[in-house]
Amino acid sequence: MSKKTIRFGVIGCGLMGKEFASAVARWCHLTNVNFEPRIVAVCDANQSAINWFTTSVPSVKRSYTNYKDLLADEEVDAVYCAVPHNLHERIYSDIINAGKHLLGEKPFGIDKAANDAIMEAINANPGVVVRSSSEFPFFPGAFQISKWVEEGRFGDIIEVEAGFWHSSDLNPNKPINWKRIVASNGEYGCMGDLGLHVLHLPLRFGWKPNSVRALLSKVVDKRPDGKGGFASCETWDNGILACDVKSQGRQFPMMLSMKRIAPGHANTWFIRVTGTKMSMEYSTKQPKQIAYLNYEPGGSQAWHVEDVAYVSAYPTITGGIFEFGFSDSILQMWAAFCDEIVNGDQMLQSFRCATPEEAADSHRLFTAALESQAEGETIKLNWEG
Ligand SMILES: NC(=O)c1ccc[n+]([C@@H]2O[C@H](COP(=O)([O-])OP(=O)(O)OC[C@H]3O[C@@H](n4cnc5c(N)ncnc54)[C@H](O)[C@@H]3O)[C@@H](O)[C@H]2O)c1
Repeated sequence: MSKKTIRFGVIGCGLMGKEFASAVARWCHLTNVNFEPRIVAVCDANQSAINWFTTSVPSVKRSYTNYKDLLADEEVDAVYCAVPHNLHERIYSDIINAGKHLLGEKPFGIDKAANDAIMEAINANPGVVVRSSSEFPFFPGAFQISKWVEEGRFGDIIEVEAGFWHSSDLNPNKPINWKRIVASNGEYGCMGDLGLHVLHLPLRFGWKPNSVRALLSKVVDKRPDGKGGFASCETWDNGILACDVKSQGRQFPMMLSMKRIAPGHANTWFIRVTGTKMSMEYSTKQPKQIAYLNYEPGGSQAWHVEDVAYVSAYPTITGGIFEFGFSDSILQMWAAFCDEIVNGDQMLQSFRCATPEEAADSHRLFTAALESQAEGETIKLNWEG
């Protein structure tokens, strides 16, 4: 299949910027796609972050320390942007207004006002494809769940539980970084950092909370500042959101959790759905396994645990028995973004990256959750209008 090349610029050459570049380097992993990204330009405010790209990614022709210079580069068609949350509003809006397609990192703005401004830029530029990064739904087990929900296999939903748990912040000696500071990470704290990952599938399935009661907690209040002293950790470490969802005329509880401090969990993303006809659970903790229970009235209730095949959105050279991992999910997500740029409504498969509307919905929920925490009350959400 002939491939259309999309010329990418990367803004923000840190942890995630590098992860994306390595996904491009193994594009030959994908079979039967008619698009191919090429990273031609990179930008970081910090020159030393750029150096890895200029030495490791041969397609990079130009590097900049001011993102506006990258946006003026006529050979850049699309941008992947991975910068701290306080910069999303300005940089994302400028990328979109420059007419470049954008795959931006979550949470798509440090707060709801910033997200509203990004949505304004999106509405003013309808020809630009804008999507948010959220890779976990591309794990084969998660991908399988999306198919089962689409096929209506669960019957009436009884309960949903979804979460994303980290644990490296349990170590009080871990130095402070921008993710623990309100000015750069935002008041949402762990919700802004981890929340869209948790909400992507529920929102895709149409499970919008009618109300939320949030329990947010701070566990470690000081960290080494890297200069011999200590700095305050200002952001929420952990959040549990008890939501009430109404979908297809029925109501059910949905428990969402985002934790920076969940002992023993390095990067655990999970979802559990129980229903009157089927129940299932998937966690990246056991990335190959999916558990499910099919039920007929009066029949037995037996959980099945199965090694799920290496099957995600796009076919690959990898044999079905092999294990899928984080970097595979990034590759699949980036393929979905390129697919949408090149094939529009005729995408090679139908699972899209997280949309700006889904990111905007997550902001409404997190803003209500902050109010719930402050008031100690359940906050209602109205999704009409
Ligand atoms: N999808 C995921 O799994 C995932 C994982 C981690 C982080 N993230 C998200 O990615 C984004 C970046 O996080 P990270 O962990 O890569 O952070 P990071 O600190 O590793 O990298 C951010 C980079 O942005 C650069 N930068 C700062 N100001 C800049 C400016 N004005 N212009 C250009 N570059 C600038 C920094 O120098 C740094 O190199 C955040 O939105 C975060 O929430 C997503």
